[in-house]
Formats: sequence, structure tokens, C-alpha cells
Amino acid sequence: MKTRITELFGIQHPIIQGGMHYVGFAELAAAVSNAGGLGIITGLTQRTPELLANEIRRCRELTDKPFGVNLTFLPVVNTPDYPGYIRAIIDGGVKVVETAGNNPQKWLPALHEAGIKIIHKCTSVRHALKAEAIGCDAISVDGFECGGHPGEDDVPNFILLPRAADELKIPFVASGGMADGRSLVAALALGAEGINMGTRFIATQEAPVHDNVKAAIVAASELDTRLVMRPLRNTERVLRNVAVDRLLEKERQLGTAIKFEDVIDEVAGVYPKIMKDGTMDAGVWSCGMVAGLISDVPSVKALIDRIMAEADEIIRARLDRMLAA
Ligand SMILES: Cc1cc2nc3c(=O)[nH]c(=O)nc-3n(C[C@H](O)[C@H](O)[C@H](O)COP(=O)(O)O)c2cc1C
Repeated sequence: MKTRITELFGIQHPIIQGGMHYVGFAELAAAVSNAGGLGIITGLTQRTPELLANEIRRCRELTDKPFGVNLTFLPVVNTPDYPGYIRAIIDGGVKVVETAGNNPQKWLPALHEAGIKIIHKCTSVRHALKAEAIGCDAISVDGFECGGHPGEDDVPNFILLPRAADELKIPFVASGGMADGRSLVAALALGAEGINMGTRFIATQEAPVHDNVKAAIVAASELDTRLVMRPLRNTERVLRNVAVDRLLEKERQLGTAIKFEDVIDEVAGVYPKIMKDGTMDAGVWSCGMVAGLISDVPSVKALIDRIMAEADEIIRARLDRMLAA
């Protein structure tokens, strides 16, 4: 399948693995890239620019295909050394950066000068248009269904994607709720040039996370996610657990007076405990509604091959037959 996204990034299939904290290590990024998609290392999971440089080297040893690095600009307690991370990305010869969380304008000149393509992930048409205006090369349009930070507008992909298609000139992929060949064909029909998946890629053989995480996603239905930190205007879609219920109770009790310090036990430093140790109630962790569509833990290659075969079948057999009738 050839789309503006496969052309832009020099990949075989229009499937991207979004940056994921404590999931997007070299093993997963390389597996996705080796299977013909675009794998992405999560920059800030590496605590220093030196560690990111090392992770980029490790990824390069595992694949000779293009891969990217995610740089997330979110409200965090200590501002990361962004100039250092940018340097590690440029020196590491990375050719794609996925930005998210805030306007990446400040970093674009240095990245573009190094020949790096920027795909900016955002949750609204106005932010997508802003990203296009400042010179981003592509957009990941993240609908309300998505795992992680869906923003505050709550527009699901069935509306958001055609709206983006009406407004954007640069290519975009559909992100949030994508799981299979049906998702891919639907995304293409709505105007996207491919898909970005997070949660689906966690439930794969190569995802370097504890088996408890994969089992939790397989066990979950589409009813099992919750939105937390809404009163802080830092909404995150997470899988329901004891910590999520506790946090939501705090939100109910404290109302608009709630501060980040009130929820720190549930959100700060919990990812290694969940992703590495498999302590599933250690805190809140991002997960999409798409968990309801995930019922197995295939290899990344089997997953991507299955998505492409299913998409082919839907287009050539199911849809074409409807037209012929
Ligand atoms: C466990 C987890 C961690 C994530 N961490 C990040 C992150 O650090 N930076 C980022 O830009 N997006 C992050 N995301 C969002 C994904 O990149 C992607 O946009 C999202 O998962 C798409 O929705 P889906 O889960 O329905 O596929 C994370 C998602 C998950 C599930």
C-alpha cells in the first residue's frame, strides 16, 4: 500500500507505533520498523540525553529500517534537558521525530536542518493547523478514544478525522482506537494516510513490558478505561484499577481545589513499577478504549501482516463487491 505517509517516511506499510512511556524501547521500535511500519523510541523514558543516544544506537543494531524518536512536551515536575535530547536525536542520525504535548516550533529549525521529518501528534483541528503552519511535515490526529492524553475537546475520530481532512494540506495518520485492518480502511476512508497505534502494540510479543500488562489489556473491554486529571486540564485515559478509583475519589472530594500534589502518589514514577515489575495497581497508566478490540498477543510482524491482509480483503472483496452489486 502506497500513501503519502509511506512515501514521506520511506516505509512499507502506513502503520506507526506511537511513543509510549516505558514501552517504546529499542526492542519494540525495531520490531515495528523491521515489520515494515515506523517504530518510535520514547525519548523521555531515557532519563538523560546520553541514555537516549545509547538507545538509538541499540535500535540501529536491531534494524536497518527507518525509525523515529518521540519527544513529549507535557507539564512535568522538572523540565527535561530538551536541547540535549535534540542533540542526541540529530547526532544519532534519526530521520523522524514524533512531537506531542505542546507546540514544537522552537525545535523545528534544528531538526529540519538535520533532514529530520516531524510528525506532530495533536487532538484538535486547530492544533493540527497550527502545526502545519509552523512547518511540521505530518500530523498524528489523536481522537478522544486514544490511550494517553486526549486533550480537553472530546471529539472522537469519526468526526475529528474528516474535519482534519477538510482542513489540512499535509498528510496525517489516524491515532486512537486503531487495532486492525478495519481500523486502517476506515481511517483511509475518512481521509487519513495511515494509522498510529499505541495500546495495540503493547499487547505484542516484542513489547518489552511485563506479561501482566499484556494480560490486563487482553482482559479489558472497551468499558474499562477512565479519564483522570480532568480538573487539572491534563486529562489522561487510563485503564481502571485501584489507584484510578482512588484518584477519582480525590477528584470528587477536592473538586476544583485539586492540585497536582494531591495526585502525585497515583501518577509520579509509577510507570517502571507497572511496565517493568507488573505491579498493576501501583498507579495510573495510559490505555485506550481499543483494549476492547484486543484479544491476543501476536508478534509485531504477525500483527502488521494481519492488518495489511485484512485491509486488502476489505477493500478488494467486501467494498468492491458492494459497488459491483
Ligand atoms: C502506555 C502508554 C504510554 C504512552 N506514552 C506516551 C508518551 O510518552 N508520549 C506520547 O506522545 N504519547 C504517549 N502515548 C500515546 C500513544 O503514543 C498513542 O498516541 C495512543 O496510544 C494512541 O491511542 P491508542 O492507544 O488507542 O492506540 C502513550 C500511550 C500508552 C498506551
